Amino acid sequence: MNNRDNLQLYRLYAPLYDRLMRAWTATARRKAIDMLQLQPGERLFIPGVGTGLDLPNIPAGVCIVAGDLSPAMLHQARKKLQEPVGFIVMDAQELPLPDGSCDAVLLNLILSVVPNGPVAMQEAWRVLKPGGHVAVFDKFLPEGSRLSGFRVLLGWLIRQIGTDPNRQFREMIRNIPGAHMPVDAPSLLNGLYRLILMTKPVVTVA
Ligand SMILES: C[S@@+](CC[C@H](N)C(=O)[O-])C[C@H]1O[C@@H](n2cnc3c(N)ncnc32)[C@H](O)[C@@H]1O
Repeated sequence: MNNRDNLQLYRLYAPLYDRLMRAWTATARRKAIDMLQLQPGERLFIPGVGTGLDLPNIPAGVCIVAGDLSPAMLHQARKKLQEPVGFIVMDAQELPLPDGSCDAVLLNLILSVVPNGPVAMQEAWRVLKPGGHVAVFDKFLPEGSRLSGFRVLLGWLIRQIGTDPNRQFREMIRNIPGAHMPVDAPSLLNGLYRLILMTKPVVTVA
């Protein structure tokens, strides 16, 4: 998977995406936002916001900055909110935000899509304030699962439609040792999809 192919694929999906994805992901999306315990005035960053299916669940008063590689997906997202949201065309692997500038980051269905998931996670972690939270709702290879021949083939097929079911979450966080993970729970499809909450430690200097 690469940015050029993703741009083409998600331009095609943009008008259909909500009809394909809204109903069966709705409960998991609400849980992901709830885990962040967002407060009015806090700054939430959503890389790979897509068509903005998460936006209606975000509590009033939260300052939202949302980005996506695909202008066509962002065009759909812009239709969803009356409140001002900062929308940016950007690459989740190279965020145009300063270190520690966000209270929370939402990574729904993006780590399985960006070309380099660990780099996207590292960037999300960089822009997060100490004490801030990252919520993830996505599909990963179940921990301890063997990558069978069938799964390799299935992974190849599913990658042709713009997402990879064979990434391991452990691999996503390889660049951020010491992350605290108070939640890692099965969500949809027998635990193929998971809900994960990560908290960035506050480092105190003695
Ligand atoms: C499966 S959709 C998920 C969208 C949304 N987060 C959701 O939960 O519905 C994946 C999104 O990632 C975007 N994307 C793909 N590669 C990206 C990249 N390198 N940087 C930012 N967004 C990217 C796609 O354009 C698409 O909108």
